[in-house]
Amino acid sequence: MKTVTISASKEYHVHIGAELLDSLGTMIAEINDGQNAVIVSDSNVWPIYGQKATDSLLKNHFSVHNFVFSAGEESKNPITYLNLLNFLAENHITRSDCIIALGGGVVGDMAGFAASTYLRGISYIQVPTTLLSMVDSSVGGKTGIDLPAGKNLVGTFYQPSLVLCDTATLRTLPHSVFADGCAEVIKYGILYDENLFSQLEKEGPSFCPEEIIFKCIEWKKSAVMQDEFDIGARQMLNLGHTIGHAIEKASGYAISHGKAVSIGISIATKIAVSLNLCSDSDWKRIIALLSQFDLPISTEYSSKILAEIALSDKKRSGNHISLVLPATIGCCKLQKVPVHQLESLIKAGM
Ligand code: NAD
Ligand code: GLY
Repeated sequence: MKTVTISASKEYHVHIGAELLDSLGTMIAEINDGQNAVIVSDSNVWPIYGQKATDSLLKNHFSVHNFVFSAGEESKNPITYLNLLNFLAENHITRSDCIIALGGGVVGDMAGFAASTYLRGISYIQVPTTLLSMVDSSVGGKTGIDLPAGKNLVGTFYQPSLVLCDTATLRTLPHSVFADGCAEVIKYGILYDENLFSQLEKEGPSFCPEEIIFKCIEWKKSAVMQDEFDIGARQMLNLGHTIGHAIEKASGYAISHGKAVSIGISIATKIAVSLNLCSDSDWKRIIALLSQFDLPISTEYSSKILAEIALSDKKRSGNHISLVLPATIGCCKLQKVPVHQLESLIKAGM
């Protein structure tokens, strides 16, 4: 097992290793003396891992409750959120109890947001079961839900008390969901780490998950510890996300977050080439690596539609929107773009 310790407004451990789910109850009992544990999960993950998580908690004398919602981004909405809050209240969950997010990023964002607002905040534990949620969403305390107007428009910064990445859960992931997580892994390579990028080029999708997840979480730790509240260094993690979120939204969430980020990275890189920030050869390496991991690099949506949607993104500030653009592999720049230029830039990136 590898461990990364995050020191932000709360200090907590991220454990990474195979079969950690069996130790869930023991690890929570070490940091939480409440009586109730509420497992929040989705309709795909609960049938596979719900019993194992429950058994481990029961062994450690927790009363276990479970709230399961339909899998998918469409569920990350205010209705599910209110249902979850009512469930917590009806089961008399108190401030000393805890919520466990057992699932991918959708479950983590929903459970974290409910934990941060119910009774003005109760403890929560992230048990990510997708590669994407292990390397990104379970760490750093961003929680949230979508509104009809856009993704993640309501949310909080609220750190978990513990993160348990059981890499054995990756074995049941569909290939396409594993690829989604690879888009975020590749993102860390482009942002910070040419060695990681080269390792991915050499090893392809057969990389050792424990080693790669550890490296990515170390990078995430560095961004979060410099800038927990996303006003500086952390914004770099949005590489591919401004355009990616627009693609997700335009597709009615039929295109997954990871695939949309992959297309977003590809467009951002081509924009950087058009501005003479990034070389043609780095662009070719990035496109080749995304393709090697079966990730998409282009979209049918027009630059006009994507710009319109992106302008309601929370990364817009007044008359500007920030784009993260690759300069070289391992180094990116945050570029403030006037809103009226966004459409033509996206067009240049397609
Ligand atoms: P997801 O949670 O929808 O999971 C993808 C699919 O895999 C779902 O159908 C799920 O039921 C299934 N699944 C999960 N674990 C499984 C397993 N072990 N075996 C079999 N099936 C499994 O999607 P995701 O890609 O994990 O996360 C995407 C979400 O994360 C988006 O909502 C995105 O906005 C959010 N996100 C948040 C942050 C953050 O910092 N808070 C960062 C990145 C992404
Ligand atoms: N996923 C981006 C962030 O955590 O800031």
